[in-house]
Amino acid sequence: MVPGTRVGLLGLGAYLPERVMENDEWTALVDTSDEWIRKRTGIQRRRIAADDESTVDMAAAAALGALEDSGLTARDLDEIIVATDTPEVFIPDTAAFLQARLGAPEVPAYDLGSSGCAGFVLALDVARARALSGDRKVLVVGVELLSRLMNWEDRNTCVLFGDAAGAAVVGRGENAVEILSARAGTDGTRSDILGLEVGGTRAPFSLDRARRGEHKNIVMDGRAVFREAVERMASCSTQVLDDVGVTVQDLALIVPHQANLRILEAVRDRLGATPEQLYVNVQEYGNTGSASVPVALWEARETGRIKTGDLVLLTAFGAGFHWSSMLLRF
Ligand code: ACO
Repeated sequence: MVPGTRVGLLGLGAYLPERVMENDEWTALVDTSDEWIRKRTGIQRRRIAADDESTVDMAAAAALGALEDSGLTARDLDEIIVATDTPEVFIPDTAAFLQARLGAPEVPAYDLGSSGCAGFVLALDVARARALSGDRKVLVVGVELLSRLMNWEDRNTCVLFGDAAGAAVVGRGENAVEILSARAGTDGTRSDILGLEVGGTRAPFSLDRARRGEHKNIVMDGRAVFREAVERMASCSTQVLDDVGVTVQDLALIVPHQANLRILEAVRDRLGATPEQLYVNVQEYGNTGSASVPVALWEARETGRIKTGDLVLLTAFGAGFHWSSMLLRF
């Protein structure tokens, strides 16, 4: 590597479907209320993809934004990574469709599939390693079309989610948003606490299961997820700060996975950060899985919440359980 050349984010992009669904719309569909949803989650509305929109449509829109922001085209890409729990089809992966859609060269393209809400930050770290080892320009996309796969009759889960896509190009560049440190982890002993079981080899898709609606049943122990999310995001974040030798007070902004306002506030308190240091947009978009961190980071930059030189912490947690944190310098 050329001394002084930074490896990091060269550009950011995001895509949010046009349709806005307010909490009140849920009250006509399930036994819930705007008050319950706001109080327990902080969510006020979310975006829902149009019927003719697919995962790849959303991923491509975010990717084109990130490429333009980087001053690059798809022809410049050396690798593509897609983090998603809601793929275009079961086989092959969404990254293959995205490579074709973008007209990118015949470069390696692969999904960090079913990696839950922590997938995007982990994919950024993989991209950083690839850029360090081979001077590659790597497109990283976090995309979820959760409204298409969730059970619209299960009030425990349906009110939480929204659709979105976010993207970044990772590579070397004097103006790159430098990735200073990244950490991630997995506790697979907790894999039964949050997931979608039907469709894999354990419970293959069948007409009987579909008639019972099991293919859309997101299994979730909300309280266990809540506790673990707070603990893991806080401790993983502390590790990346320690790696670089900075403290929470040095951070301009914390951009966490937007799961639930109460989770975000608990992580903030655990870290000893101030309300001004926490970026929150869960009220607008709900939980958009692996898209939530790139969308929030893009939005924070677009709205002037981040300046050159700022230290920004990303942190995410999701099914697996998987978690990941990353420290950036803009
Ligand atoms: N409307 C009204 N009532 C509801 C709804 C709803 N949409 N959903 C659940 N309830 C009911 C429950 O049935 C329960 O009723 P009961 O007491 O009669 O059994 C009651 O509300 C309270 O349930 P609690 O579990 O006490 O509610 P809690 O305060 O824990 O909030 C929530 C639930 C919002 C799911 C919370 O636990 C949470 O956010 N957990 C994290 C889950 C999460 O973020 N999942 C997303 C994927 S993972 C990730 O992104 C990190």
